[in-house]
Amino acid sequence: MIKPVVAANWKMYKTIEESVSFVEKLKKKPLDWDEVHIILCAPYTSLFEMGNSLRGDSFVSLGAQNLYWEQEGAFTGEISVGMLKACGVEWVIVGHSERRTIFNETNNEVSIKATNSLKNNIHPIICVGETLQQKKNNQTKEILSKQIRESINDDSNNNNTIIAYEPIWAIGSGLTPSFNEIDEIHNFIKNEIRGYENYKILYGGSVKSANSKEILNLDSVDGLLIGRASLNVTEFNKILSF
Ligand code: 13P
Repeated sequence: MIKPVVAANWKMYKTIEESVSFVEKLKKKPLDWDEVHIILCAPYTSLFEMGNSLRGDSFVSLGAQNLYWEQEGAFTGEISVGMLKACGVEWVIVGHSERRTIFNETNNEVSIKATNSLKNNIHPIICVGETLQQKKNNQTKEILSKQIRESINDDSNNNNTIIAYEPIWAIGSGLTPSFNEIDEIHNFIKNEIRGYENYKILYGGSVKSANSKEILNLDSVDGLLIGRASLNVTEFNKILSF
């Protein structure tokens, strides 16, 4: 198996102190780091100090949860890719369903954000996923296909971009698709949407130590994108001990 990616999305949790403390504890755990690629996607405010704490340590990559596509200018409240880069950020989540639904982000905006991150050598993790209603209407594949075609453009390839499949109804709900369903959807993305065969695809949505190993064992799953269960370093370490 290729080295799996285990990415944490801390969302709007953790102060600077809490973030750095997590990193320090994580660094103490004796793991065979060569077997996993860890990406910690932290709030903007924690990135600089986490970058300092991680400097010289190659086992964990630093990630952000969003960016704006302009380099600089009068865009109150926004953060540019250059600013992320200066903190040591190497990855950025783009198009998370919370950004798509709460902040009305469109596929086109996701695509522009991904392009701009790539121009600055920051790798996008582009998120896609269906709502419960879409699942019930048997529209999952159609929705994913549209999201992928419109959110991922020609600047992306399987070396510089990762896809995260996160069914919206599974996020934070304690519910997950069956292992067969996860496998079917990941295979659908790899085999039926042309051009995405070799992309790494992470699964996200209610992953915890009790289900992470079985999900990671699926051949079509290249890693995990974890919300709540990534906030606690003991639980996160359990997920990493495969
Ligand atoms: P949970 O793991 O809390 O369900 O969140 C998943 C997620 O949104 C990761 O991006």
